[in-house]
Amino acid sequence: MVKMMRISYYSLGCKVNLYECEAIIQQFVKNGFELVNFHEIADVVLINTCSITEVSDAKSRKIIRQATRISPYAIVAVMGCYAQLNPEEIKKIPGVDLLIGTQYRHQVYDMVMELLKNRHFMMKIDEISHLKIYEELKVLRYTNKTRGFVKIEDGCDNFCSYCTIPYARGRVRSRQPHDVIDEIRTLSDEGMKEIVLTGINTGCYGRDLDHYSFVQLLNDLIEQVPSLGRLRISSIELTEITDELLDLIKRYPNHFCMHLHIPLQGGIDSTLERMNRKYRIIDFEERLKNIRTLFPMINITTDIMIGFNGESDEDFLETCNNIFRLGFGEMHVFPYSRRPLTKAYHFPDIISEVVKKDRVKQMLAINQMMGLAYRMQFKGKIVSLLVEKNDNGILFGHTSNYIEVEVKGNLSPNTEVDVVLTDPGYPISKGVIHEF
Ligand code: 5AD
Ligand code: SF4
Repeated sequence: MVKMMRISYYSLGCKVNLYECEAIIQQFVKNGFELVNFHEIADVVLINTCSITEVSDAKSRKIIRQATRISPYAIVAVMGCYAQLNPEEIKKIPGVDLLIGTQYRHQVYDMVMELLKNRHFMMKIDEISHLKIYEELKVLRYTNKTRGFVKIEDGCDNFCSYCTIPYARGRVRSRQPHDVIDEIRTLSDEGMKEIVLTGINTGCYGRDLDHYSFVQLLNDLIEQVPSLGRLRISSIELTEITDELLDLIKRYPNHFCMHLHIPLQGGIDSTLERMNRKYRIIDFEERLKNIRTLFPMINITTDIMIGFNGESDEDFLETCNNIFRLGFGEMHVFPYSRRPLTKAYHFPDIISEVVKKDRVKQMLAINQMMGLAYRMQFKGKIVSLLVEKNDNGILFGHTSNYIEVEVKGNLSPNTEVDVVLTDPGYPISKGVIHEF
């Protein structure tokens, strides 16, 4: 019997990275490779790196080293944002065979096959800032998953002063509408009940297309995919939330999750200005008021960065107050990390790691309180749960408004069920199945 070739992977960072990894892995699986766990010995290991912070860089290097230790004879293929920005650092790690950045992912399979025949170091990384066309990469099939991630866009044009992403990913490139619609039709026809639209700057979708917008894409999905379940927008900038978008959500409440992730990043106006963000706290507050008037139960979650240059104790206190007032269901807290190439790299008044750590701790405590306050509104209420896992009669899943719930029952993953939320907790709430 011929032994099957084995492939494993590790994706760091965002959901876009995960999507890309899965798409490439499927090409291997389609061609007879067996997918194994990252901790098992493989013949090919694929690693998608992240470079959002210094810690992401370090983690990426650690995972690459780990891969070469677990599978010393494997072809180790490294790609992604860290590879795009800092290939020289990765080259120094012994055992890396293939190095690409955030381009040429559709060629990974062919490149690895060539390396399996004739092993040598191969690197293909080019400047990406001029790229204008989205590099198509299809996910053919998701197995055993309830929530399907679909990438609709790559790149970002915002150039926030702290952020390395525009350098790692290039300008906004939208995927062709028919490719997005076809992929979502396939997933929905297969019975997937929730589709998460992802991108680097998802709300900018369509900006580079002729007379086509994000709202039009959403509209076309609803009209052209009869089997469509619910859509979740992975993350959207405040400036991309238009009246048109809110109208569409209002018109099709069953097709949209009651959840918006709107990254705030800075908690006071002066920080927002230094961050080169395009709104101020009052704009954020008014938009949230407006969204909550339309959708009273909506969960608004956010990203916040702590310890950005010049953040005084007073600034931090005011940030905490503003965040409490805005009220988020969940906050991802990031200690600010100085990134080479960015404008803020040269900003004065660096905040010490000790102060940053302390502020992050305080912010996480606020996050817990706010999260619990949001969930408490649903105590004793019926919520719709999409079951993701059944662990010996304990079901786990997310509600449309992104509350993690655990409930006793015997249903299979991908079933939607009404649940009474009996015990809202952080991070997981408890409930019971609602009997009619
Ligand atoms: N340091 C810390 N966090 C950052 N993010 C982006 N750039 C940095 C940085 N230099 C955070 C932002 C973004 C999330 C994905 O990562 O909050 O929304
Ligand atoms: Fe990390 Fe950003 Fe690249 Fe995603 S796009 S992998 S979050 S640096």
